[in-house]
Amino acid sequence: MSEIAEVKINGQTYELPIITGSEDEKGIDITKLRSLSGAVTLDSGYKNTGSTKSAVTYLDGENGILRYRGYSIEELAEKASFIEVAYLLINGELPTKSQLSEFEANITKHTLIHEDMKRFYEAYPSKAHPMGIVASLLCSLSTFYPDSQNPNRTEEEIELTIYRLLAKLPTISAWAYKNFVGHPVVYPKNNLNYEENFLNMMFSLPAEKYKIDPVVADALNKLLILHADHEQNCSASTVRIVGSSHANLYSSISAGVIALWGPLHGGANQAVIEMLETIYEDGTPLENWIAKAKDKNDPFRLMGFGHRVYKNFDPRAKIIKKAADDVLEKLGIQDPLIEIAKELEQVALNDEYFKARNLYPNVDFYSGIIYKALGIPTEMFTVMFALGRLPGWIAQWKEMIENKEPIGRPRQIYVGANERSYVPLDER
Ligand code: ACO
Repeated sequence: MSEIAEVKINGQTYELPIITGSEDEKGIDITKLRSLSGAVTLDSGYKNTGSTKSAVTYLDGENGILRYRGYSIEELAEKASFIEVAYLLINGELPTKSQLSEFEANITKHTLIHEDMKRFYEAYPSKAHPMGIVASLLCSLSTFYPDSQNPNRTEEEIELTIYRLLAKLPTISAWAYKNFVGHPVVYPKNNLNYEENFLNMMFSLPAEKYKIDPVVADALNKLLILHADHEQNCSASTVRIVGSSHANLYSSISAGVIALWGPLHGGANQAVIEMLETIYEDGTPLENWIAKAKDKNDPFRLMGFGHRVYKNFDPRAKIIKKAADDVLEKLGIQDPLIEIAKELEQVALNDEYFKARNLYPNVDFYSGIIYKALGIPTEMFTVMFALGRLPGWIAQWKEMIENKEPIGRPRQIYVGANERSYVPLDER
């Protein structure tokens, strides 16, 4: 028996179907509410609105559970490779050995970017934020591959765009970093794996061969996996909504990068390190910073704390905190910021304000400490997030297209002026 919700508006009752997910979560299907009753629902920031039925990622914020296609984030972070996880997210199943090598070979084929694109970098100021460059260049890919602009692409054409995106984002990102530090670009090396090739393009110098440290490559693999998808967050929803107008995939992903850049979303990883550095240099007790974060008249927020859906703990933060300890130990680095972060976490977790609002460290709280230990500059942190998130965005976009979802177009409640007559300029 299908379940029904009843909505009563001014004495009139309307029956609406209840949709049940595979983990028994419930959603009231309000698609017909307006045509039945004339009313829409209002939910600023979509705090209680399901925008789609999705089979990609399961997230239970109350219990701190995150699974990609049914596999727990803990198990994937420990046992899988990022490229395997990318295949899983995009295709729905873990690859066999031959599927994985074919997938890798198809990506590796496309790691170069068109030489004309190199000239874009020359036009940017040398301290241009890498996120601005990455978003622009991703969008520009659509002009180099005009077939991608055709909304009626074949499956093969879509697949080719996906390979190109996965292959070229590391190159575009590493070159944005080279622009930032004013060094010559390093071309991709196709005998290296995904993470190694990226690290080589970042850190290799003409005067000095870069030796890939397996500790660094492993940590990067884990970080990319932990960031690979997170269901209908701000950037994934952006990718889906832009794609729903049948804008091409390159541009939809570029829009996702822009959404991610904001400090309330992926840009928080840069903001966290900047905050920890300020706290370290300032030297005042942590309680002062907590008081600032609680003061509603002060714009300061504890960056890396709080989450729209996690109201218990963010499982990714737990894994990253441990990974940060491991990486610092293995690389023999002593970073005072990790001690500050741990102390800050303890102070916040024992504070009534944070407890009452269920504010816990999120994925961005400790990730910056690892990126810093790997030698990645602060301005590149959100680019690292984007590299990890790319397969998730692709999977979300693909699902939206395959399910033939309609164009995303929310309603509103108009609260502006009622109709009035135009007043000529000299009469105002
Ligand atoms: N510091 C201090 N207070 C906070 C914080 C914080 N980091 N986060 C939330 N609060 C408070 C709010 O002021 C609000 O208090 P109130 O009920 O007294 O008004 C309450 O907690 C609820 O917060 P909202 O902003 O309403 O929650 P929302 O779900 O809209 O926002 C968000 C979630 C944006 C992540 C928020 O917690 C925040 O700004 N955190 C800091 C930025 C950050 O770390 N972002 C990364 C998130 S993870 C990611 O996107 C990859």
